[in-house]
Amino acid sequence: MTTPTITLNSGTTIPQLGLGVWQASNDETENAVRYALDDAGYRHIDTAAAYGNEEGVGRGIRASSVPREDIFLTTKLWNSDQGYERALAAFDASLQRLGTDYVDLYLIHWPLQDSERLLRTWDALEEIAASGRAKAIGVCNFEPHHLRLLLEAGKTVPAVDQVELHPHLPQPAIRSYADDHGIHVESWSPLGGTSNSGWGKDSKPNTLLDDPIIARIADRHSKTPAQVLVRWHLQNGLIVIPKSVHTERIAQNIDVFDFELDELDLSEIATLDDGTRVGAHPDDMNLGAPE
Ligand SMILES: NC(=O)c1ccc[n+]([C@@H]2O[C@H](COP(=O)([O-])OP(=O)(O)OC[C@H]3O[C@@H](n4cnc5c(N)ncnc54)[C@H](OP(=O)(O)O)[C@@H]3O)[C@@H](O)[C@H]2O)c1
Repeated sequence: MTTPTITLNSGTTIPQLGLGVWQASNDETENAVRYALDDAGYRHIDTAAAYGNEEGVGRGIRASSVPREDIFLTTKLWNSDQGYERALAAFDASLQRLGTDYVDLYLIHWPLQDSERLLRTWDALEEIAASGRAKAIGVCNFEPHHLRLLLEAGKTVPAVDQVELHPHLPQPAIRSYADDHGIHVESWSPLGGTSNSGWGKDSKPNTLLDDPIIARIADRHSKTPAQVLVRWHLQNGLIVIPKSVHTERIAQNIDVFDFELDELDLSEIATLDDGTRVGAHPDDMNLGAPE
C-alpha cells in the first residue's frame, strides 16, 4: 500500500511518512536514500543544512530511479544563518549541495530568542516561497508563542511545525494551536530518538524501542516496536520521519499499512505520556544563534 498524503496549507501534498537522515554521513545517507526510494517505497526525505549530508541526499536521489518530481524533499535553515540576507544565501547553498533547483519544504530549524531577526528570516523564506524554489515553508521547534509571533505579524502561516513528539511527549498544546491555525505537525525523534539526540551532556537514551508496553502491543500484532510507534504517529494524524541507515529497518518502518492500533493499544500507549524529552526545550536553548 502507498503512503497516505496530507495537503498542506500551501496546497502542496506531503507523504505522511518519510525518511529522516540526521546523524548519518554523506555515504550512509546516499545509500539509505537510494534504498528508501527504489526498494522500500519512500517518497519523502527529511534533511537539514546542519546535518552535513545534503550532498548525500542529492546523490541518493540521483542514484535512484525515482524522478525528482515524485519526491518530497525537505531541508532546513540553520540558526547561524538566520536573518534576511544570510537566509537567502544559505538557501542557495543548500540547493547547490542537494543538486536540485527547488525543495518541497524549507524549514527554520530552531526559533531564535531574537524575535526581530526571526521575523526577517521569515521574510526571506516568504520570498523563497514566492519564487517557487520552495513549494512550502515552515518551522521547527516552535512553541505556540513563536507561532503567534508570525501570525500576529500577518505573515504567511507556516505549513508545518516539526517538533520533538513521541508517546513520552505528545505535545498537546502545540498540536491544538497548530490544528486551530491550519498548521500540520511533524514528529521528530518519533521512535524516541538516538542516544545522541540531546546534544552532548543533555543526551538521553532511547527508552521507547525497549519499552515493555510497546513490546507487548507489538507482540499482539506480530509487528516490531518501531512499527507500533510509526503507526501511533500515523493514527494521530501526524507526519512522521523515522531515521535509519539500515536497509532492513528502513523497509520495516514503512511496512505499517497492514495493521491498525486499537482502542486498548492507544490507551496503553497514552500511559507513557510523562513529558520526557530526548532533545532540548526550544525556550532553553538559543541554539547556534548568530553573533
Ligand atoms: N527539526 C529538528 O530539530 C529535528 C531534531 C531531531 C530530528 N529531526 C529529524 O527527525 C528524524 C528522526 O528523528 P531521530 O533521528 O532523532 O530519531 P528516531 O527516528 O526517533 O530514531 C532513530 C534511531 O532509531 C534507530 N532505529 C530506526 N529504525 C529502527 C527499527 N526499526 N528498529 C530499531 N531501531 C531503529 C536508528 O538506528 P539506525 O539508523 O542505526 O538504524 C536510530 O538510532 C531525524 O533523522 C531528522 O530528520 C529533526
